[in-house]
Amino acid sequence: MKIDILTLFLEMFDAINNSILERAVKNKLLEINYINIRDFSKDKHKKVDDTPFGGGAGMVMTCQPLFDAINSILTEEEKQNKDLCQIIYMSPKGERLEQKIVTNLAKLEHLIIVCGHYEGIDQRVIDHFDMQEISIGDYVLTGGELPAMVLCDAVARYVEGVLSEGSTEEESFSNGLLEYPQYTKPRAYNGLVVPEILFGGNHQEIANWQHQESLKLTRKRRPDLYRKYQKSLKNSKK
Ligand SMILES: C[S@@+](CC[C@H](N)C(=O)[O-])C[C@H]1O[C@@H](n2cnc3c(N)ncnc32)[C@H](O)[C@@H]1O
Repeated sequence: MKIDILTLFLEMFDAINNSILERAVKNKLLEINYINIRDFSKDKHKKVDDTPFGGGAGMVMTCQPLFDAINSILTEEEKQNKDLCQIIYMSPKGERLEQKIVTNLAKLEHLIIVCGHYEGIDQRVIDHFDMQEISIGDYVLTGGELPAMVLCDAVARYVEGVLSEGSTEEESFSNGLLEYPQYTKPRAYNGLVVPEILFGGNHQEIANWQHQESLKLTRKRRPDLYRKYQKSLKNSKK
């Protein structure tokens, strides 16, 4: 998979050039390119923003550098067929990022992620390129770089070969529930002990216990997910 990130703050992305993502890039499972939007500005001072029409505080990122940057990345084929490349704008006004969006994006060959700044980007860029707007939550950050890193990390985990087989199958949200509690050695730590059932060697009993713990946790912390899970169970029995 190829991910092109358009940003004004390239240095911020050092934060994701570590651990699993770094290995995925080295192993050529993932290609991540960082494009400086400012490099495309035709303004003699390399300006990329201007005051908003209609008034109001702050600045808006202008069309020209963004149009030119995106057009420089898209292949002729991608310009003709919009299904070949998904262009995403990280935005608090977008659809809230969820596992379903992540797994769908992980199936694509090419993503372009645009990071906004100031008051955001000129609406004509969003409309022209038919961008998918994605939010990482109901709060406003100063820029789209942290949201873009969140999206990249989440999507990369689902690219084939990035994680060991089965790693994403039994974790939170994979079956609609939150994951059960995890324990590791030692068996007792300062008087705190691991539930006895995990040492019985009965795989079925352990799986049942883990499922019950998942249900309990989801019901308590995420009643919305719990209701959805119960509903899907009912529908599958029909
Ligand atoms: C200060 S914000 C702009 C907020 C915008 N004026 C509004 O009220 O919706 C600057 C940039 O940060 C990014 N951003 C901020 N919060 C975000 C969020 N919750 N999810 C995704 N991107 C976000 C977007 O790229 C946005 O263009």
